[in-house]
Amino acid sequence: MRVLRNCWYMFAWAKEFDAAPSITRVIADEPIVVALAAEGAGNGRSNAAGHRPIAVTVKHRIVWIWLGDAAEANVSAVPDFSCFDNVNDAGFHGGHLPTAAHYELLTDNILDLSHADFLHPDTLGGGAMTRSAPRLERDGSMISVTWDAPNDVALPIFDRRLPKPGQPAHVRLQVRWLPPAVMLLRAQVAPAGEPLENWFESNSAHIMTPESEFSTHYFYGAVRNYEQDNAEFTAKQAAVIRHAFTTEDKPMIEAQQRNMGTSDFWSLKPVLLSIDVGAVQARRALARLIEQSGQDATGHAQGN
Ligand SMILES: [Fe+2]
Repeated sequence: MRVLRNCWYMFAWAKEFDAAPSITRVIADEPIVVALAAEGAGNGRSNAAGHRPIAVTVKHRIVWIWLGDAAEANVSAVPDFSCFDNVNDAGFHGGHLPTAAHYELLTDNILDLSHADFLHPDTLGGGAMTRSAPRLERDGSMISVTWDAPNDVALPIFDRRLPKPGQPAHVRLQVRWLPPAVMLLRAQVAPAGEPLENWFESNSAHIMTPESEFSTHYFYGAVRNYEQDNAEFTAKQAAVIRHAFTTEDKPMIEAQQRNMGTSDFWSLKPVLLSIDVGAVQARRALARLIEQSGQDATGHAQGN
């Protein structure tokens, strides 16, 4: 499949290696084996099926691989998930959800968070995202989309923590996208009129690594600034989130893929709404990067 090769892809959560010294996954049609040193830190080593070496680095609880030429791997370009560094294991959860859809359909879903109001009304929705217009910003290759609702209804998972559940709340959600499909979602909730930075915040990763043209490794993980030492709370929240993704997002996105068949996204002439602004910008930015990288349709450098 045709993907951007000169960038970092999430291969696994570092903690997945606690149970197995090496893991094999298909990434962009290529079976790749990664083994980490016993201490689970620093660089690992890996091989593709054709025994080409692949650069591996472990950073921010994540095992990253560079799909391009290992000599060009640039560790300073690893996406910033430093929010995962200073939280102990009791306050962190992460998962891997194989999904039968092209990875950009999963990006579309995260870059339009108003979907939560319809798909997850009892947990992650509530209506605030639908009622606030998303604001788009770009900084180099980063695209961010922010929904800011200063006087609205808190997301249900935050509302029960407010001094008076149901009280007016300031809700701000921001998704930062980096190519190819690496997203950090920051959710902040405070009683309306209170400074956001003094109240509740969660940071979650939504990282899509293509397995093949029509299947994706969806990696998700989260930390928060409350109940950080409460492993039981973390486990409950992980179960709620996994349930929402497995029973609400995944079936919707897989059905979308089935309806599209093997057609190219743009060839279907999608009707674009204002809520799609982030998703459309991300699709165009990624297409441009792949174009500029000079790969042929098979995803390999031209002339090879
Ligand atoms: Fe969702």
